[in-house]
Amino acid sequence: MTSKLIRTLEAKRVVPLVQSDDVGTALKISEALLAGGLDVLEVVLRTDAALDCLEAIAKEFPEAHIGAGTVLSADQCKEVIHRGAGFIVSPGLDEKSVSVANDANIPLLPGIATATELQQAWNWGLRTVKFFPASLSGGPKMLKALSSVFRDVRFMPTGGVNPANLNEYLAVPAVLACGGSWLTPKDAIEKGDFKVLTQLAEDAIKIASA
Ligand code: 3PG
Repeated sequence: MTSKLIRTLEAKRVVPLVQSDDVGTALKISEALLAGGLDVLEVVLRTDAALDCLEAIAKEFPEAHIGAGTVLSADQCKEVIHRGAGFIVSPGLDEKSVSVANDANIPLLPGIATATELQQAWNWGLRTVKFFPASLSGGPKMLKALSSVFRDVRFMPTGGVNPANLNEYLAVPAVLACGGSWLTPKDAIEKGDFKVLTQLAEDAIKIASA
């Protein structure tokens, strides 16, 4: 993983998920999060418009770090790289995706939830992974156990992270940053209340820097 992305993740410590079926809305979501100080965004491939949203956000906010999430295959990796993703996040491990990302020199964080999966990722040369679904896979205690064995691995826990437990995850030294959808609540987005997102971003930064 490029050290530039690691440095950015270390500085912000929170990665919001951007999900929308409309490019205009995705741009407003991104603008609101950037206004709140979060400039690493993960655009998830969970809507038909996700690739267009990714491309539009990457073009509109070139100074931000725009990645693609929920990337499930090597073909999707190629597509998100083509659309401007600066990093890739997957829910699980896929060797072909790892090799596409390596060839393109784009950091990929695959999801792992067990020691066996992490050992597989480690043997493919990966040292930064997503821990998913974090809360159901043992939370901060599991991260401590994994990091005591895999001493050179950094984690991005995602799945069940929220303002109430963010601190606990970030207190684990091996945790680089946490990802989550709590920063982009559906109801506020549907109401067009993007100020809520800016406030949540500011609050998350406060918690992370406390
Ligand atoms: C992910 O894709 O990383 C998770 O679905 C996010 O989980 P959360 O909605 O619990 O934050």
